[in-house]
Amino acid sequence: MIEKGKCPICGKTNQCAITLGEEPSTCWCMTTKIPKNLLSNIPDEYRNISCVCRECVKNYDKRVCVVGSLNVDHILDVECFPRPGETIKAKSLNTFFGGKGGNQATACAKLGLSTSMLGTVGADSHGKRYIDHFKSIGVQTELINKSNISGQAFIQVDQNGENNIVTIGGANYDLSKKWIDDHLEEILEHDVFLFSLEIPPKVVIYLMEQLEKHHKLIILDPAPFANFNAKMLDFVDYITPNQTEYDSIKSLLSPNHHVIVKRGEKGSKYIHKEISINIPPYPVNVVDTVGAGDTFNAAFCFALIFNYTIEEALMTANIAGAIATTQSGAQTGMPTLRELLKIRFK
Ligand code: RIB
Repeated sequence: MIEKGKCPICGKTNQCAITLGEEPSTCWCMTTKIPKNLLSNIPDEYRNISCVCRECVKNYDKRVCVVGSLNVDHILDVECFPRPGETIKAKSLNTFFGGKGGNQATACAKLGLSTSMLGTVGADSHGKRYIDHFKSIGVQTELINKSNISGQAFIQVDQNGENNIVTIGGANYDLSKKWIDDHLEEILEHDVFLFSLEIPPKVVIYLMEQLEKHHKLIILDPAPFANFNAKMLDFVDYITPNQTEYDSIKSLLSPNHHVIVKRGEKGSKYIHKEISINIPPYPVNVVDTVGAGDTFNAAFCFALIFNYTIEEALMTANIAGAIATTQSGAQTGMPTLRELLKIRFK
């Protein structure tokens, strides 16, 4: 619940004179321009009781670069997954924008973050459509290369919303060190980097090396785990495996790593040194879990940018990931900042 005088973005006390009923003329918010996009995301009920704080206005300028894959998702809606050798009938087939990177970038943009995508689409009609889609939702596309044929994902979603996914990487695997070198200046204009691994692991490590030299914040979603390399752990600030990935990675982690385990219907867990914090899930009616983890990562990134405590960050990410499961398709159900804030401070 947002109380009088608390910022609707971070929930912390905000000394805004107007909302505290004091003389407004000298208040910082009369002299600082609060970005229109940020203001338009504030739920109406907070409008007259609270003001966005100065810190959040400053943090709103931070730029996120999502590094990862861009796929076309072909989603088959099935009653149950087929057993080996079995033929079954699907209830429907739909095509959506997907790929872990594309999903994370979309979720970041919907949460109002200034977001660029770094990856490769096919030099085909799918690739063109993906770039147009990004432009329409405000994802910056200057760091997207075009080559080859777009990556594709063949996905089955069962009646419980569970999924299994087979991808063919296509253009995603054409991301090269040369592309990184040629765009390094623009890349380094970003503050926070969100990685996933449906792209060449060597390029991920190469880029992380460059970013570390410039003290950039790095979040890694180690999925698919087949592309994970222990060297990546030298560079990451936060790593966000799901439970299965965590079980495979844990022997490689040091107590100094900040680990966020995405546990789906069990919520999420933060592990660092002797600290272990479980945050319960946000209950929803699940339709389709594709993209829930990607939305979780984006919301976690949002929470870091706005200096949430780790508990608040996980709670926020749990809510965002859960909302994303309430509609079919990875990106369709992702919450906007306004939707997230409405629930977050209810
Ligand atoms: O994380 C979900 C994504 O994984 C899907 O959109 C699919 O494209 C695969 O990359």
